[in-house]
Amino acid sequence: MGKKTHMVAMLLLLAIFMVACRGSVVSETTTEQTSETKVVTVGFSQLGAESDWRSANTDSMLQALSKENGYNLIYKNGQQKQANQVTALRMFIQQEVDYIVLAPETETGWDFVLQEAKDAGIPVIIVDRRVDVADRSLYTCWVGSDFELEGQKMAAWLHEYTEKAGIASSDLHIVNIQGTIGSSAQIGRTRGLSNAVREYGWDLLAEESGDFTEVRGREVMASFLREYDNINVVYCENDNEAIGAIDAIEAAGKRVGSDIKNGEIMVVSFDGINAQALEYLKQGKISCIAECNPLHGPRVQALIETLESGGTPEKYNYVAETLFSSVPEITSVTIGEETYSVDIVK
Ligand code: AHR
Repeated sequence: MGKKTHMVAMLLLLAIFMVACRGSVVSETTTEQTSETKVVTVGFSQLGAESDWRSANTDSMLQALSKENGYNLIYKNGQQKQANQVTALRMFIQQEVDYIVLAPETETGWDFVLQEAKDAGIPVIIVDRRVDVADRSLYTCWVGSDFELEGQKMAAWLHEYTEKAGIASSDLHIVNIQGTIGSSAQIGRTRGLSNAVREYGWDLLAEESGDFTEVRGREVMASFLREYDNINVVYCENDNEAIGAIDAIEAAGKRVGSDIKNGEIMVVSFDGINAQALEYLKQGKISCIAECNPLHGPRVQALIETLESGGTPEKYNYVAETLFSSVPEITSVTIGEETYSVDIVK
């Protein structure tokens, strides 16, 4: 080979080498970009749209698990039917999503489908209400409220109120408009009240489900008013029921408010996200609201991020919540060793 031919061959080899190098740099960058912008596919089964709380919760989830945040979210509304939620979960499994997020309507009946998710190797995050399954390894973690504590706080507030107003325990005539029977929010809040009824000797006249809706709150309250003429406390297990109950009380020509010694009917409830309920609180038509925080989207996002980075999140993640009240005399309640302050709303 002549000197010139040798040079040409060398240059050719160099050019091939440089192209090859450039190729590998490009492909490395692509891989890097892909892993940086990895799209996480999440199947989210929401139980329904029964309340303002639920709408706020859905919005929070859709915003956090958005395309802009790197998620491909498959959202299914269960329309208040567990069977629809089970079908949605099976569809997510078939689609081989990276994570399943479940906001269950009721606590029981999830063992089989969660086993299917586990067998498929898909982590399940439970949000808001709990699931009652024999094997807790069927889900990765849970985030939501301590519903029994909410009920305990409300009962402690009622107790404080009777003490301060000098009302005998047996003169508290309560009706409870419960949430969806079998849901954690109903179970916890009803238990909080029942235990206090036993402890203080309050008169619990009746309990019936209002399904967490305004329409049912109105119907149930109207029927309670037809049956009992001495109701002075209405314990509503969410704000939508309270709005319906207030309508029914006023339609029956009675007054709502905290002055039960002078014939007003006191309404207390849970949530604190509904604009009308907050307005009623300011007006004194609702006396106390135990907060239930619906903004779980960023919390679920953080749990997924922990799992994505190979971490292990806490199994149970409770959200801190407060009490809102329009009655200025009660500024805190105590449960066991813990004292919780009350946010006075003016
Ligand atoms: O599970 C949370 C409860 O469900 C909220 O209190 C209620 O408003 C909702 O429908």
